[in-house]
Amino acid sequence: MNYQWYPGHMTKARRMMEENIKLIDLMIELVDARIPVSSRNPDIHTLGQNKSRLIVLNKCDLADEKITKEWLAFYESQNVTAVEVNAKQKKGVGQIQSAVQKACQEKIERDRKRGIIGRPVRAMVVGIPNVGKSTLINAIAGRNTAQTGNKPGVTKGKQWIRLNKSIELLDTPGILWPKMEDQITGLHLAMIGSMNDEIFQIEELALDTIKFLKKEYPTLLAARFPSCEGLGEAEALKCLEGIAKDRGCLKKGEELNLEKASNILLDEFRNGKLGRFTLERPND
Ligand code: G4P
Repeated sequence: MNYQWYPGHMTKARRMMEENIKLIDLMIELVDARIPVSSRNPDIHTLGQNKSRLIVLNKCDLADEKITKEWLAFYESQNVTAVEVNAKQKKGVGQIQSAVQKACQEKIERDRKRGIIGRPVRAMVVGIPNVGKSTLINAIAGRNTAQTGNKPGVTKGKQWIRLNKSIELLDTPGILWPKMEDQITGLHLAMIGSMNDEIFQIEELALDTIKFLKKEYPTLLAARFPSCEGLGEAEALKCLEGIAKDRGCLKKGEELNLEKASNILLDEFRNGKLGRFTLERPND
């Protein structure tokens, strides 16, 4: 299936982000812990040139814990500061302050040598849609109620949230669109629900999800959908039919409603009811 996607408001959002980037020292790059590669936009490297960087693996409550640790170790080996977070439940959000400080160490040191002491580090959250940017900003703002308001010399209307005396966060996130450089990226984004389902053939997406589960997490599918027990990767359609039977998804005349079954499977896969999954590993 072709998982391509052309959203409409790309240019405006990008322009706004380019404007905001000029104001900041550090980008807090939010990615989905289930797909840390596909949920990034490689343009971030060009956009964020000369900026410090912190990677936040969000939605870690839905991701495979073991693989999240592998990702953190990988980033560390690359000298990139990274943390795991569950923004929805505000777990891990507290580490962000110290991680920002760590990620900006060089800059703070440079400032100090130039005699600039005590100027706060300015940060901005960036990421693709639906990765949890607003949730994270709210979680941070909730802990740090001091909003700094407009600043002289800063574009009117920009609001900064003061995390502490040395860090300020822009209250609007930078939006980037995922880059569909290959079909796998599109498939992974679609599987986790990061794209509008209306643009896919939902049954094909469900079949691809079943194949992934059969290969990577073979026991979890059957634990939730008993009809999938004993079926192999090549029997994804049979498994989907089984899910339709298990859940009573029928059209008029007793015909199986595979579209409904597909929606049920994807919904439960995405919101963690089947278990925790990660689709991409550092050594892939
Ligand atoms: P965005 O600004 O990057 O576009 O994302 P936003 O914060 O709107 O979050 C998108 C969805 O992801 C929201 O769900 C939000 O609750 C959920 N989310 C954010 N962080 C986490 C996390 O750490 N774990 C989990 N499990 N979910 C997270 P929604 O369905 O759109 O809204 P709601 O049902 O939560 O109200």
